[in-house]
Amino acid sequence: MQETRVLFVCLGNICRSPTAHGIFQAYVDRENLSHVIRIESAGTSGWHVGDPPDSRAMAAAKSRGFDLSRLRGRGFTASDFLAFDYILAMDNDNLSAMQALQPSTYTGHLSLFLDFSQQTAYREVPDPYYGAADGFSTVLDLVEDGCAGLLEHIRQTRS
Ligand code: 4NP
Repeated sequence: MQETRVLFVCLGNICRSPTAHGIFQAYVDRENLSHVIRIESAGTSGWHVGDPPDSRAMAAAKSRGFDLSRLRGRGFTASDFLAFDYILAMDNDNLSAMQALQPSTYTGHLSLFLDFSQQTAYREVPDPYYGAADGFSTVLDLVEDGCAGLLEHIRQTRS
């Protein structure tokens, strides 16, 4: 398989994209593909650079066996277009913010993350930051589904 670099992006990089980062890393590790699939996450805002994931996101992920505790927030920059084959936005605002920085020469894949999900009820991963606690379990459901679809896509298209 060709080396494949994946970047998950949300607004703060403390709730949705670190959840996707940690879960996709766990799936990739389970399939012994960590030497060929490299994963990072970032936020379109610089509000939480250096911060660990939101404690609610960490607790929700831990309840399903995923450890996010070593991840730290960082901001998305235009140089990420030089480094990643897949840049995946959690919602349309994140996607628009990145499209505004996208060089015309970018040959990778910039889209909504849930384009790789099997379910059809959601196109975006809803921002759980200001919402009720069950927002974090919705995030996990959507992210697990999207990560499974993404891994299958990468296996099929980059072997
Ligand atoms: P995320 O959620 O984009 O999924 O990390 C948010 C985190 C922080 C804020 C908003 C959304 N905030 O306003 O600080």
